[in-house]
Amino acid sequence: MLPKVSLGLWHNFGSVDVYENAKSILFHAFDRGVTHFDLANNYGPVPGSAEITFGRVLKEGLGAHRDEMVISTKAGYIMWDGPYGVWGSRKHLIASLDQSLKRMGVEYVDIFYHHRPDPETPIEESMAALDQIVRSGKALYVGISNYKPAEARRAFEILREQKTPFIIHQARYNMFDRWVEDGLLDVTNEFGVGVIAFSPLAQGLLTNRYLNGIPEGSRMSKGGFLKPEALTDEKLARIIKLNEIATRRGQTLAEMALQWILRDQRVTSVLVGASSTAQLDTNLTVVEALEKNPLSAADLSEIESVLNGK
Ligand SMILES: NC(=O)c1ccc[n+]([C@@H]2O[C@H](COP(=O)([O-])OP(=O)(O)OC[C@H]3O[C@@H](n4cnc5c(N)ncnc54)[C@H](OP(=O)(O)O)[C@@H]3O)[C@@H](O)[C@H]2O)c1
Repeated sequence: MLPKVSLGLWHNFGSVDVYENAKSILFHAFDRGVTHFDLANNYGPVPGSAEITFGRVLKEGLGAHRDEMVISTKAGYIMWDGPYGVWGSRKHLIASLDQSLKRMGVEYVDIFYHHRPDPETPIEESMAALDQIVRSGKALYVGISNYKPAEARRAFEILREQKTPFIIHQARYNMFDRWVEDGLLDVTNEFGVGVIAFSPLAQGLLTNRYLNGIPEGSRMSKGGFLKPEALTDEKLARIIKLNEIATRRGQTLAEMALQWILRDQRVTSVLVGASSTAQLDTNLTVVEALEKNPLSAADLSEIESVLNGK
């Protein structure tokens, strides 16, 4: 149901960003077959503004294709100060989704996620809230994000018991962060749940972006979630080696990094970010590469050696 490459609006679509650029990326994405757009209540900055941008783009034409799109949003991280502005109570999840629908100007989302597990609210309450949301018509399907294997199993058991249409787990997965291989992919597979891999390019590290320093305007230069400390000499050396493998295979590092994730049939889609249409185009080449330039066993083992620091 999802395209191999989906687009996320965590960065580059906030009120601090250039609206025309955001709009052109979204239209371009849809024209190129990206039918899935992923948001969350708090994406911006400022929190909420990515949903406002997206709603404006829908209003300015993209919304004519509403039935050809899968739109998702989430709640669970801090959204407002004061009571009920965070985590996974029924109160928070329902209030937050109502706000998201208003910001985007849509009547329903296709997927609503609980963004992260809540250590205090009983999981039964969060899952019952997801069920209520579907029954009320505000979401077609539900998903969870950032749940560890045992938490995901419990969530899926409850959702299955409630007969809630749960279809997806959204988890960080890239060459530098492979925690999902340690049990999560087995659990999702067992329950027939898809996995969408977020930050598949490690926020840009697994591209040519930082091969020659930290460019102005890049995510790392902006002092947000991707800190310069993440680019250690050791990591850069690995990125350079991976880039050499990609070049030899006749592809970009970004393309190879996405292809590496999609080598596993249990991963449904890679959820990329992009600050330009050109970046998105580079990332979309993976769709053809999957068929025409598959990773061989030798390629995979060479990549493995680099990732293991050999
Ligand atoms: N569920 C969760 O907790 C969670 C958490 C994080 C993200 N997400 C979702 O996952 C989505 C993607 O995350 P992400 O933005 O971290 O993904 P990513 O694809 O790993 O990183 C995207 C960034 O990498 C750079 N980039 C992308 N393609 C490039 C290319 N071809 N060449 C050079 N640089 C390139 C751009 O950074 P520059 O700005 O430097 O150009 C872009 O903004 C988010 O939008 C969100 O929807 C979910």
